[in-house]
Order: sequence, then C-alpha cells, then structure tokens
Amino acid sequence: MDLADRRLGHLLEPIPGVEDRPAKAPQLGGVLAQRPKVREIHAAGEHRPLAAHDHAANRLVSGRLLEGGAQCEHKLAVDRVPLLGALQDDVTDRSAVLGCDYGHVDRLPALDDQKSGGRLVQIKKVGVLGAGLMGHGIAQVAAQSGYEVVLREVDDERLEKGMGRIDKQLARAVEKGKVEQSDADAVQERIQRTTDYSDLAECDLVIEAITEDLALKLEMWREVDGIVKPEAIFATNTSSLAVINQAAVTSRPDRFLGLHYFNPAQVMKLVEVVRAVTTSDEVFEAGVEFAQANGKLGIATKDKAGFIVNRLLVPYLLDAIRALEEGVGSISEIDEAMKAGAGHPMGPLALADFVGLDTMGAICEVMYEEFAERRFAQPPTLRKMLAAGWYGKKSGKGFYDYSGESPAENSALSG
Ligand code: 3HC
Repeated sequence: MDLADRRLGHLLEPIPGVEDRPAKAPQLGGVLAQRPKVREIHAAGEHRPLAAHDHAANRLVSGRLLEGGAQCEHKLAVDRVPLLGALQDDVTDRSAVLGCDYGHVDRLPALDDQKSGGRLVQIKKVGVLGAGLMGHGIAQVAAQSGYEVVLREVDDERLEKGMGRIDKQLARAVEKGKVEQSDADAVQERIQRTTDYSDLAECDLVIEAITEDLALKLEMWREVDGIVKPEAIFATNTSSLAVINQAAVTSRPDRFLGLHYFNPAQVMKLVEVVRAVTTSDEVFEAGVEFAQANGKLGIATKDKAGFIVNRLLVPYLLDAIRALEEGVGSISEIDEAMKAGAGHPMGPLALADFVGLDTMGAICEVMYEEFAERRFAQPPTLRKMLAAGWYGKKSGKGFYDYSGESPAENSALSG
C-alpha cells in the first residue's frame, strides 16, 4: 500500500452521511470508480481548503486539466471532504463545506459555461516591476516565451543594470549555440524599458518583483492600480509576505495572485501560484497557465508565509548558519558536505549568499512573526552580517568574499 493508498483508505469505508442520502446520492461504487482520479489529485498535493462552490480545483492540478468532466467533479465535490481530513481554520464558508451535497452540486455552473465566461483578459503584454535579481529574470523568461514585456525600474541606472544582466545571459546562450542571434535580438526588442508607471497602462498582467518591503509594495500598488487597465491581472513575486495584504489595497482583489519565481528565474523550473482568499478561479487558472506558457511548473500553494519552498528551505539555511556558529564545520566544509552528501547543487551558505542575505533576513522576519518559532529566527551571525551591509553575492561579501577571481571564505567569519 503506498502513501496515497493509505491516505485514501478511508474512502473504502462508507462516508458518513452519504449512505443516508436518497437514491440520487452517489453510491460507494461511484466513489471507488473515481478513486484513481482522487488519488491523482491527492498525490499532486492539492491541499488548499475547499468551499462548497470550489470545483475548479478538481480540474486543475499543477496546471494539468484532469479528465472526467462535470460528472466526476460533482462526485468529488460530495466525496472530497473526508478525503481532505481536518478542516482548516481559514475555510471561510465552513457550513457550506460540511453541508455540501446535491443541493450545492446542482448549483455548480456547467463546465462549458465556465470555459466560455471565465477568462477576463488574454495575456499578451506583461509588466514587470523591478529589474533586480528576480525582476530581470522574470522579464527575460516572459520575453523568451513570446510575451511583450514592459520592464520598469525606479531609475535608469538600475534599469540598465537589469537589462545588462539579460543581455549577458542572451549573449552567453548565443555563444553556446543554444539561441540564434536573431532570436536573442527579438527577445531584447520585446522588452520595453521604462522608469514611468504610465507605460504599464495597457499590460494584461503586471508582476511586481520590487524590494521585499510591504510598505513599499503597497505604495507601489496603490499608484499602479490607478494607471493599469481595470481588467488586467496583478501578481506579486513576494517570497513570504501575505498576498492578500497587497491584493486588498487594489481595486481588483479578485484579479490578484502570487506568482513566486525562484532564483535564477531563467533556470529554476518552479513558480508557486499563490491563491489569496480573494483570487477568483479564473485568475488563479490564468496564473497557472501563464507559468506553464513560460515553461515553468506552476504549483498551487496557500497564502501562508513562505508558501511551500521557503517554508522548508529557509529553516535549513538558518540551521546551516547555526551549525557554523557552533563550529560543526567551516563555511566551505558545511557547503561541500551538503553538495557531496545530499546532492544539492549549492551548499546552504553559498545559497544564502546567492538568494541575498537581506532578502533572507526579510523572509525570516515575516516567518518568525507568523509562526513564532525559533527555527525561523535570524541567528546572531546573520543579524551582524546584515548590520555590516554584507548582503551576499549582490554586495560582494557574505559568507564568501566575491572580490577575487573565485569566491573565498569570508575570513571575518572564520574561527
Ligand atoms: N541567470 C541565468 N542563467 C543562469 C544563471 C543566472 N544567474 N546562472 C546559471 N545560469 C544558467 C547557465 O547559463 C547554464 O545554462 P545552460 O545549461 O543553458 O548552459 C545553467 O544555468 C547552469 O549554469 P552553470 O553551469 O554556470 O552553473 P551550475 O551548473 O553550477 O548551475 C545554478 C548554477 C543553476 C544556479 C545551480 O547552482 C543551482 O541550481 N543552484 C540552486 C539555486 C536555488 O536553489 N535557487 C532557489 C533559491 S530560493 C529562491 O529563489 C526563493 C526566494 O524567494 C528566496
């Protein structure tokens, strides 16, 4: 029996309430007939809380449209409450979940109605706010995927720095023979550079990748919201802040979601697609489809600090710093051990430098505030490094010193 089987074992038992229903209710055999599909959904890790009207999640898992149509969805709508186990605290419409039965199933819109009526805007033009570590990569990936891109920065210097990174990546790809020069030129031409918000007015999707500072993000959204056409979708690339806080300051909280890319965005396969409580089904689906159209794997996640990856990755990186503080190993010993022993492409301290210690510090603060657990707290070494302005690779110094030809251990942290 595999994990999915064990977790689904209870479906073999009569589901309380289902057997008492009139003849119209699904028979247990019907549930079993759907078991492979149920298993597929569960194995794909779709755990977000469900309300009775929430049928779209049955169809879209990690960007794949599950077969089965309305019939399957209707059965699952009735049968999935026990499948998902304990209800989450943040299920908004708990009575609707518990009471989900044929009454609500009959109210579900037909699949065809959904398909024809749902989409708000077709994404052709993408605005990216911020041309830093993440923003330039997000813009490049979108342009490479054929979208028109408007890349906005606060000043020309930062804008040119971001574009310089893109040019360098494209030149390297041409050099390696992976891309034709004409294609690289076309990608560059698709990216319009600006320092002016008004150039975003006609974008269909705007993704923010500015500093991980809620106050700054809110100020920016308030301004952008008044400029960009009302049917456009907004997305935040936040690593840890609640998506709903940003959605709520706009006039389009239903058209707001999280699209969390990973560094380097050009290489890393994942985009976490974060559904705020206000995000509509259509916008969430558009987010998953957009990730796919960018060649990424879009994985749905709840609007909880750190989402999936940072929830697990950040405590690991912080533990590596604690191990260093305790003298378990030197900087390079810890890194080399994790590369050779766990098959990671980078050791944790090199990765912390790569992500940016300032970004990591900001993520820690949000996660510590949310979970109040020591494992998310900034270790003293990290606090001191931040105070010294050592932000990792981007500032030239972190756990490693990047001023030489190849990174060397930061001697101030040794011993
Ligand atoms: N931008 C664009 N492309 C890059 C790149 C960059 N910064 N760095 C590397 N690449 C490309 C290279 O061009 C090369 O492409 P090719 O295969 O087409 O030739 C490919 O990636 C491999 O690069 P290299 O051979 O130079 O180097 P490595 O094999 O050592 O790979 C790495 C570099 C991809 C960065 C790898 O070390 C890695 O995967 N590291 C882990 C990164 C990671 O864990 N990121 C997630 C961080 S968490 C996060 O971002 C969340 C946030 O919220 C904090």
